Amino acid sequence: MSSKPETASADTGLEGIIIARTQKSKVDGLIGKLQYHGYNVFDLAPKASFEEVAYLLWYNKLPNQSELDGLKASLRLDRQLRPEIIELMKVLPRTAHPMAVLRTAVSALSAFDPDADDNGPEANLKKAHRLTAVIPTIIATWERIRIDKPILFPQKTLDHTENFLFMINGAEPDETAVKALESYLVLLADHGMNASTFSSRVTTSTLSDMYSAVTTAIGTLKGPAHGGANQKAMETFREIGSPENVDAWFEGAIANKRRIAGIGHRVYKTMDPRATVLREDAKALSLTNGGSKWFDIAERLEQKTREHPYFIERNLYPNVDYFSAIVLYELGIPDDQFTPLFAMSRVIGWTAHIMEQWENNRLIRPRAEYVGPEDQPWLPLEERG
Ligand SMILES: CC(C)(COP(=O)(O)OP(=O)(O)OC[C@H]1O[C@@H](n2cnc3c(N)ncnc32)[C@H](O)[C@@H]1OP(=O)(O)O)[C@@H](O)C(=O)NCCC(=O)NCCS
Repeated sequence: MSSKPETASADTGLEGIIIARTQKSKVDGLIGKLQYHGYNVFDLAPKASFEEVAYLLWYNKLPNQSELDGLKASLRLDRQLRPEIIELMKVLPRTAHPMAVLRTAVSALSAFDPDADDNGPEANLKKAHRLTAVIPTIIATWERIRIDKPILFPQKTLDHTENFLFMINGAEPDETAVKALESYLVLLADHGMNASTFSSRVTTSTLSDMYSAVTTAIGTLKGPAHGGANQKAMETFREIGSPENVDAWFEGAIANKRRIAGIGHRVYKTMDPRATVLREDAKALSLTNGGSKWFDIAERLEQKTREHPYFIERNLYPNVDYFSAIVLYELGIPDDQFTPLFAMSRVIGWTAHIMEQWENNRLIRPRAEYVGPEDQPWLPLEERG
């Protein structure tokens, strides 16, 4: 006989379950509205810098000029990657997925941080700065290592976003590229109790350290149902190949019940507001680059889904990963580096939530409904079939 259910929520993927109170971000999935501590992302994306949003999420207020200057200076100081970590990355196979490399490097960094196991508020804030500053260096360093190009060191004269583009591409970026990436980084910084933020809070709730919690979060983000969807979306656009192929490809996807990466969301039952902004950014960048084939494919495919009863009935709209794939492609980012760039933004949300969890922690420990057999008699090895 099976056990009685212990809760009513087994198999629901915790849909609708509130596991924390937060001041960081509010997601309204019915009207498609996202706010960070009360500020609408429609205002933040075109106006705020990445550093301003980091300050907002960490300190629950927008910085004044001197607070912003102080944060920028702190992040600049923490960008340098330790030579031991660079050596560690060099021994990894060049075929390793950049998310696996990022997860490994972040985990290894804890061994060198004297504050790694100090979970007090000041040490945690320092670690949030360090992780946010160094993750772009890890991403860019891995890119340079795997394509056999000289590693470029961080530039103290450049802000966060510009410096990253410089380190990965080897040239000072133009203003359009910086603006587009900044908007992307602002839009992805936090998003309620998404899966990777949840996993970072679970790790923190055991009184484990910030490096462990961020490493957990990177592992969770990697999956294609979460942050890995941006790479998968680009792979889908490549598979389609040209705008003329969209209709036939879509019919095949419907016939084979294929999921389309970058479509659908647990919370949004309407257009994801981040996708609204990213669509415009993707369009502008495509036109600036003199060709909009990938954007045209994405837009045509979206149109097909919007006209099809299957997608209409289920309220399936493009999510953040759909048009951001085109933005990142147009910025010259390789497909498998898309998810690391998601992590480069979300690290401020993760660390903000980790610090918030510490403010009012209780072990996060749900239950499972046991559905296996009970009270089985022990069978000696020689009697087992
Ligand atoms: C995001 C996602 C995991 C949300 O999952 P969820 O809330 O558990 O929703 P479900 O998987 O229960 O899907 C609900 C229904 O919509 C369908 N559906 C969801 N996403 C779909 C997609 N991208 N393409 C086609 N059908 C989809 C499901 O098949 C299901 O249909 P059913 O009711 O007939 O079984 C899901 O939409 C998905 O896999 N999207 C693609 C991956 C992606 O873009 N992830 C990034 C999210 S930001």
